[in-house]
Amino acid sequence: MAQDNPTPPTAQLRVLTPDGRAPGEQPQWRRDFPIDTAQDNFVARRDFTKFMVLISASFVAGQGWIALKTLRGRPGETGPRAIARVDELTVGQAALFFFPGEHDSCLLVRTGEGGEREFLAYSNKCSHLSCPVTPDVKAGCLRCPCHHGSFDLATGRPLAGPPRRPLDRIVLDVRDGSVYATGVEERTV
Ligand code: FES
Repeated sequence: MAQDNPTPPTAQLRVLTPDGRAPGEQPQWRRDFPIDTAQDNFVARRDFTKFMVLISASFVAGQGWIALKTLRGRPGETGPRAIARVDELTVGQAALFFFPGEHDSCLLVRTGEGGEREFLAYSNKCSHLSCPVTPDVKAGCLRCPCHHGSFDLATGRPLAGPPRRPLDRIVLDVRDGSVYATGVEERTV
């Protein structure tokens, strides 16, 4: 008597769930986001790679920005530019000028008669939160009205208030009866 070929048994598939409960008994949040552990690792690796690429790009952009700022700060590379005639200011007077860009406001102060240091110039952006500073030549300082900061007129270093960094110094050259700005010295200490 011929025997029918027996049907091969169907494989018994058992769906594995993280907590061992049947898929229908899983909490709602797991049914809403059905990503298993292996997929989760894949997503995490992809996100990590994206994160690393972004960090690297930010690092490269930051280095470029620092290089640009350094170039801008080198004396001689942005000037020279005549900013005043020597006889335009008497001792104790100050004048506003823009250097190196048309929006970079600076202060030129005459502190003496003759000699190498008769003129000083600084960026007039306070190193705290960029309020404009004003000179007080008699007191030997530059004052920031925003938070009562002050800077030494001779060095640009902070004397009082919240500022911690000196003012950027404008490098000057006094010759042939004129004062020239030749560069910006950016200082962090
Ligand atoms: S902005 Fe100058 S002290 Fe704050």
